[in-house]
Amino acid sequence: MGAIMWRRQLSVGQPSIDEDHKHLIEYLNQLDEALTAQVYLPRRVAAILIRLLEYTREHFAREEKIMESVRYPRLAEHRRQHAEGVRAITELSNAFTREPSRENAERIYSFTAEWLVQHIIMQDTQITPYVRGVWL
Ligand SMILES: [Fe+2]
Repeated sequence: MGAIMWRRQLSVGQPSIDEDHKHLIEYLNQLDEALTAQVYLPRRVAAILIRLLEYTREHFAREEKIMESVRYPRLAEHRRQHAEGVRAITELSNAFTREPSRENAERIYSFTAEWLVQHIIMQDTQITPYVRGVWL
C-alpha cells in the first residue's frame, strides 16, 4: 500500500471531474492512513468508508450528467461500469460491516484503489475529446 499521487495521466481535461477524482483519491489515502496506523480503529475506518461510498455515488452521478450534456456516445456502457463498481465496493463494504477487521478493510482499499485508477485511465479519459474546451 502507499498513498496514491495525482498525476497528469489521470486528468480527464474537465475541471470538475478532475477535482472529484482528486477528492476520491484523498478519501482512499485517508483509508490507507487509517489502515497503516499503529492502532487499528474500526470506527475510524467505517467513518471514512461511509464518506468514500457516498462521494463515489455522487461523483458518478455528476460525471454521467456531464457525459450526457456533451452527448458522450458510450454513456450507457460507462453507466454500467459505474454501477458494477458501486456494486462491488458496496459488497466489500457490507462484508466489513459484518466483520470490521483490518483484512476486510484492506480488501476494500486494494480493490477500490485499483479499480478507480484503472477506470479513470482507461475509461474516463475517453471523454477528453468531448469535454476539452467545453464550459460546463
Ligand atoms: Fe467514470
